[in-house]
Amino acid sequence: MANITFTSPKLKKDLTVYAVAGDCRTLLAIAREHKVPIDFECENGECGSCAVQVSILANKQPHGIALTEKEKTVLKLIGKITGKQIEDAEVGDIPPPWRLACQFIVRDEDILVRF
Ligand code: FES
Repeated sequence: MANITFTSPKLKKDLTVYAVAGDCRTLLAIAREHKVPIDFECENGECGSCAVQVSILANKQPHGIALTEKEKTVLKLIGKITGKQIEDAEVGDIPPPWRLACQFIVRDEDILVRF
């Protein structure tokens, strides 16, 4: 089970929701279910409008940071992450600072999402 805390000037206050273990919906799907107003357009990892800052809150180090090819391409194109950060994520399990909400599948880490 993961706690996902959303924080944004668009929200009256921070909102924490729970993602059930094994839930394989995207962060965007979970946000929409809870009426969290993250911007989006294509929902297919192509436009970059759903880029959000994600920080890991728990002490637990995440394993196997999985960025989709689209996510890597678009985040790099819009200047949110570098090639080095992609490499660090893939080789060293170091979470990149930005994700595409429509591509990011929440695992069991507690995260803070800024948008
Ligand atoms: S909504 Fe277009 S990249 Fe996520």
